[in-house]
Amino acid sequence: MKEMILTAKIEVYQLDELSEENKILLDAAKKASASAYAPYSHFQVGCAVRLKSGSVITGNNQENAAYTAGLCAERVAINHAMAWYPDDPIECIAIIAQIGGIWVKEVCTPCGECRQVMKEVELRIQHPITMLLASATEVYKITGIETLLPFGFNASTLSL
Ligand code: THU
Repeated sequence: MKEMILTAKIEVYQLDELSEENKILLDAAKKASASAYAPYSHFQVGCAVRLKSGSVITGNNQENAAYTAGLCAERVAINHAMAWYPDDPIECIAIIAQIGGIWVKEVCTPCGECRQVMKEVELRIQHPITMLLASATEVYKITGIETLLPFGFNASTLSL
């Protein structure tokens, strides 16, 4: 038997410690959360994606009375970016959630399915994505989806 130990590097920032471009990205995510469609959970998530060109694409969660048909903010924003700007790689993603106008006190971490989508994007664009997971007071900065999805399923697993 041998043992494998995983380590994770997460930088924790106070809001005023963020770089100017990351503050702008987080503000875009906050703005997007205001127009989320979340009549069932009331958990309104905003996501902003910055591309290499500097363009910012936003998204928010879109719920459905048939719950499983709903979509997370991350996949709305990421799929929009990949559909419209396939040659402009994603560099950074900011995520934040509010309930009734109050920012949630825990940082908003992407669900498993969104992590899997981010994994595919990283493999497609061939470089790690930076994630800014924000709460009311602080931001976890993580570079590379491997930290959030170790041993993630990917295309190389599909062959012998
Ligand atoms: N949700 C997101 O949009 N992103 C996340 O990172 C976590 C969860 C949405 C899905 C659903 O509409 C609501 O938040 C509650 O789970």
